[in-house]
Amino acid sequence: MTLPTAVPKPAAPRVNPLQRIWLREIGMERLWMRPAPAAARPAVVPQVPVSKAVLEAPGLAPAVLSPNAAPAPVTSAAPEQVSGDAVAPQLVVPTERATGRPGIPASILTRTGPPPRPVAKAAAEETAEAPRISVADAAKNATLDELREQVVACTACGLCQGRRHAVFGQGATPTRWLVVGEAPGEQEDRQGHPFVGRSGQLLDAMLAAVGMSRDTDVFITNVIKCRPPGNRNPKPEEIASCSPYLMRQIALLKPERILVLGRFAAQTLLGTDATIGSLRGRVHQLKTDEGAQIPVIVSYHPAYLLRSPSEKARAWQDLKLASRMV
Ligand code: URA
Repeated sequence: MTLPTAVPKPAAPRVNPLQRIWLREIGMERLWMRPAPAAARPAVVPQVPVSKAVLEAPGLAPAVLSPNAAPAPVTSAAPEQVSGDAVAPQLVVPTERATGRPGIPASILTRTGPPPRPVAKAAAEETAEAPRISVADAAKNATLDELREQVVACTACGLCQGRRHAVFGQGATPTRWLVVGEAPGEQEDRQGHPFVGRSGQLLDAMLAAVGMSRDTDVFITNVIKCRPPGNRNPKPEEIASCSPYLMRQIALLKPERILVLGRFAAQTLLGTDATIGSLRGRVHQLKTDEGAQIPVIVSYHPAYLLRSPSEKARAWQDLKLASRMV
């Protein structure tokens, strides 16, 4: 019986100075001796929203709450580590034929003419990926400015592909009221600010009627920061991707109260599938992860009020309810 023998670890690659120059000239040095990935601006992938209410929002199956597991970090090694007992870098260069030096194409090791054209550079850059962290992790300790930068650069769901602008929100800090709508529409997507179309004009008028303004008292944002194509309803996975941003906005702005506009925003924030008729007219409490309780008032979406002006009287009652609690 033969005992299995341990497979010897491949020798760490050695590159002599001439080979190093060639590798650099043909753009393959980075493939061979991949540097540590830059940690400055990580790409973001969706993960679990932070709010219990949001976690329990209708239609949010656990599976969609973490649709993309973050890939394992890329093993890296500094150029100095390629010889001796140092950790071998991740090799992505194919061996052309056996050379005794794993990964180095024989045509490079034996070439005597001038260095070839740098054909592999683009491939090298494509494979050098930044580490990916979740939206929730990235947002967790962000300041408001950092959070805005994250939202503007976000690629966590497919909505980033069709947007002109991600719409972070706009308004007063410190913030007395946080107004939460559904998602940017066409004008908001064009201009990068929330509620700037016809709905926004009505919203500004409604706020002015109770002495509030987005310049001095109110911060306005949406559950979803990018416009869904054709203004369709956001999908559960889009809500899951975006929710950590809203929850961090709430944690940072610490509003005295939250005015939620429309069924979609109300159901998402309060984690219910109750109708808007049953949610409005009373004060709800949003428990934050920081242990605060913020009063929440639900009202009709201004776009609905534009279509159904007779409901404005009820919206007026809602605003008075919100104002009375000051
Ligand atoms: N509708 C919304 O819900 N939000 C906006 O920002 C604009 C229109």
